[in-house]
Amino acid sequence: MSKIFIDACFGKETPYTPVWMMRQAGRYLPEYMEIRKKVGNFLDMTRNPEVVAEITIQPVKRLDVDAAILFSDILNLPMEMGLPLRFEKGVGPVFDKTINDEKDVEALDENASEKISYVYEGVKLIRKNLADDKALIGFSGSPWTVSTYMVEGRGSKQYAKIKKMVYANPKLLHKLLDKVTNQTIKYLTNQIKAGADAIMVFDSWGGALEKEKFFEFSWNYMKQIAKDIKANYPNVPVILFSKGVGLYFNDIEGEFDVLGVDWNTPIDYALEIFEDNYTLQGNMEPTRLYSKEAIKEGVTKIAKTMKGHRHIFNLGHGILPDVPVENAKYFVDLCKEITRR
Ligand code: CP3
Repeated sequence: MSKIFIDACFGKETPYTPVWMMRQAGRYLPEYMEIRKKVGNFLDMTRNPEVVAEITIQPVKRLDVDAAILFSDILNLPMEMGLPLRFEKGVGPVFDKTINDEKDVEALDENASEKISYVYEGVKLIRKNLADDKALIGFSGSPWTVSTYMVEGRGSKQYAKIKKMVYANPKLLHKLLDKVTNQTIKYLTNQIKAGADAIMVFDSWGGALEKEKFFEFSWNYMKQIAKDIKANYPNVPVILFSKGVGLYFNDIEGEFDVLGVDWNTPIDYALEIFEDNYTLQGNMEPTRLYSKEAIKEGVTKIAKTMKGHRHIFNLGHGILPDVPVENAKYFVDLCKEITRR
């Protein structure tokens, strides 16, 4: 059965512009909070294929979005590579053990992409339970973004430790990035084999780098991942999303299908640069979800700009935990209604 989301990824004509939301499975949904209370721990939720499948499908049932995204985290893979992970209240993800030198990189487990089989079991179960016309997006973090957590140990404002590596020990950093990239390619390939219809690479911290370093340490690795996946699975769309790099768009290119546009980057500016060479995904400012009026204004403006062009509706970053579900539903319905052809 054809999937509107997949068609839009390849720039085919669709009855309306498909829509989904980054972080659409999460804390703003009461049914998510219910399971979280029962299981108790976020990581345990991601390690249970039945729970993964149920949570992944929740926003599809509730909001009728056109794509589901695997419920997991970008940090499960580095965790399986040998860095114990915990989520600390008020801080977020924390690695107590971090990467400091050559021997830390050498100690990383190159069998992680096989050990993480709970994700593949989850993907199989989701694909079995998800409606045929809905796409399932598998994902990973970008090697750069994943490595920032592996080196810094937690989310950071300055990225002092990893940026010091960029300039003072680039060889070591490339060695780490190579290893993470290899695992990521295998991880995404296994997700596709298990039933993922598309894959997305999240590069949340690409914007921490100056232009030439962004291409050297982040984009080049994302491109490598995309190229490998496209060579083996030309029919599986590849979505790349780097946050905070709108001003570098002039030099962005590669073998991928969809480019995520963050909310800081005016989408008319992105369209001017890329025209219809890629499908653009995004990019309503997520905070607009607190007001229906603001949603209407945001959606109308984006729809007007993207009319007649390759587009997938989304937010320009993840949905916040206290957004009213009713407003999320209003956003999804409006995107479809306003773009119906
Ligand atoms: O989009 C989806 O619904 C799919 C699942 C998904 C999650 N995390 C679930 C999650 C995806 C694609 C991610 C990606 C992710 N995780 C990124 C890249 C995208 C981005 O937002 O920039 C990053 C940087 C992470 C690391 C991470 N995981 C952070 C910073 C946090 C937030 C910590 C907090 O308390 O706010 C997480 C936790 C996380 N990942 C939650 C969910 C639903 C919240 C867990 C909970 O408290 O229930």
